[in-house]
Amino acid sequence: MSKRTKISELLQSTDYGKEVTAKGWVRTFRNNQFIAINDGSGINNLQAVVSLDFPDEPLLRRLTTGASVSVTGELVESLGKGQKVEIKVKTLEILGDCDAEKFPLQPKKHSLEFLREKAHLRFRTTTFAAVFKIRHVLAFAIHKFFNDKGFVYMHTPIITASDAEGAGEMFKVTTLPFDATPRDEAGKVDFREDFFGKATNLTVSGQLEAELGAMAFGEVYTFGPTFRAENSNTARHAAEFWMIEPEVAFNDLGDNMQLAEDMLKYVIRYALDACPHEIEFLKTRLLEEEKQKPLDERSELDLHAKLQFCLEHEFQRLTYTEAIEILKNSNHNKKKKFKYIIESWGADLQSEHERYLVEKHFKKPVILTDYPKDIKAFYMRQNDDGKTVRAMDILFPGIGEIIGGSQREERLEQLEQRMKEMHIPAEELYWYLDTRRFGTVPHAGFGLGFERLIMFVTGMGNIRDVIPFPRTPKNAEF
Ligand code: 4AD
Ligand code: MG
Repeated sequence: MSKRTKISELLQSTDYGKEVTAKGWVRTFRNNQFIAINDGSGINNLQAVVSLDFPDEPLLRRLTTGASVSVTGELVESLGKGQKVEIKVKTLEILGDCDAEKFPLQPKKHSLEFLREKAHLRFRTTTFAAVFKIRHVLAFAIHKFFNDKGFVYMHTPIITASDAEGAGEMFKVTTLPFDATPRDEAGKVDFREDFFGKATNLTVSGQLEAELGAMAFGEVYTFGPTFRAENSNTARHAAEFWMIEPEVAFNDLGDNMQLAEDMLKYVIRYALDACPHEIEFLKTRLLEEEKQKPLDERSELDLHAKLQFCLEHEFQRLTYTEAIEILKNSNHNKKKKFKYIIESWGADLQSEHERYLVEKHFKKPVILTDYPKDIKAFYMRQNDDGKTVRAMDILFPGIGEIIGGSQREERLEQLEQRMKEMHIPAEELYWYLDTRRFGTVPHAGFGLGFERLIMFVTGMGNIRDVIPFPRTPKNAEF
């Protein structure tokens, strides 16, 4: 058997007359003549043309959508629209049949909901080939961005005994039997008997461990899976998602904002450069999808223009307090168009408020800073006003919060005080507090939700469509 050439390579080739072999999966077979083959090397298919007097009719009948094939023949200039080259088939081999009656993917449009149920096969559609290629490219770009800057990539534990965010949204990890859990004197589950000798959970964030690394390497980042048992069935929440968390010694909140903005712009530009075909395809897909929506809900910019726009404009920086003023005085608030009316300072911002600021008011990405301490995590640096902390959230059009971060409380006394107020047991976090005891320095970091970034770059509206096998409430299929 001759060696195959990847389809992406063949599509670029001008070696007309050369005999080549391509292997892949049949996307469509039209007019008993034109086979569209894809091998995953790009989203564009190769056309292989079978002559009308091809001798083996039964073989052609096996050219169904999804079947895997090997074709050998002459590379010729294509007369058809849409491609420069095609293969004139000399020999054709079916590597694996695909029963057209049973194969769920047909050569027609399927809804995203339908494809979610067929997530084991949906990579074979052009939409998901594009989305997951971009996912890969963004992951690579993130590593490249930090590596080029000299950051150290740090692996933080997946199983941990701490709740980094203090929000209590954790999945327990245990080997204790449910029907005979050991109990202590007080009748509570006795985790001393458990695998790790204490209660453990899946991590919600690698931040606290990343801070330990930053106190030696100066600049570190994590990139790993995180888990949250929040029962919010929204299009932007998954129970298992990937997070990128840089942590930098000697950085203040201003440096932190700049790093985040630079990183986002770098990786978006990287995807635009590396995936022009994928982004073009997704742009067209989105325009089609938006035609179903009422005019006033359609976006003003297409996907490509939206990404460009984000690169060309500085993110709007403002404080939480300023944002509350804008929201309180907005017509939207006065006419009670928000589900949660903003009454006063201290209110937690809902995604409708975030999106109003980004999409209606500023019309560009926004960085909100200095939130009330009561709605933020214990580790954030307290401002002198006694009310706010050096937090930052980055809000993106169509997405809402894409990044959450802060300058950290590096002063031992203030940190201990805050932990006490929030009932976070200091004994369990002695190791974290040790960084403040032994050579503490100002530092800052943030967490980027990887799936939310992919949603932004691909224009996909549901987090379930940007992670291969999503985990959401009542769903852990595959
Ligand atoms: O704002 P969060 O909770 O911040 C942290 O976890 C900090 N420890 C980060 C840090 O400072 N190192 O989460 C960070 C980001 C959010 O902005 C959001 O993009 C994403 O993680 N995120 C989720 N993405 C998908 N599904 C969920 N359930 C998410 N929860 C948070
Ligand atoms: Mg947050």
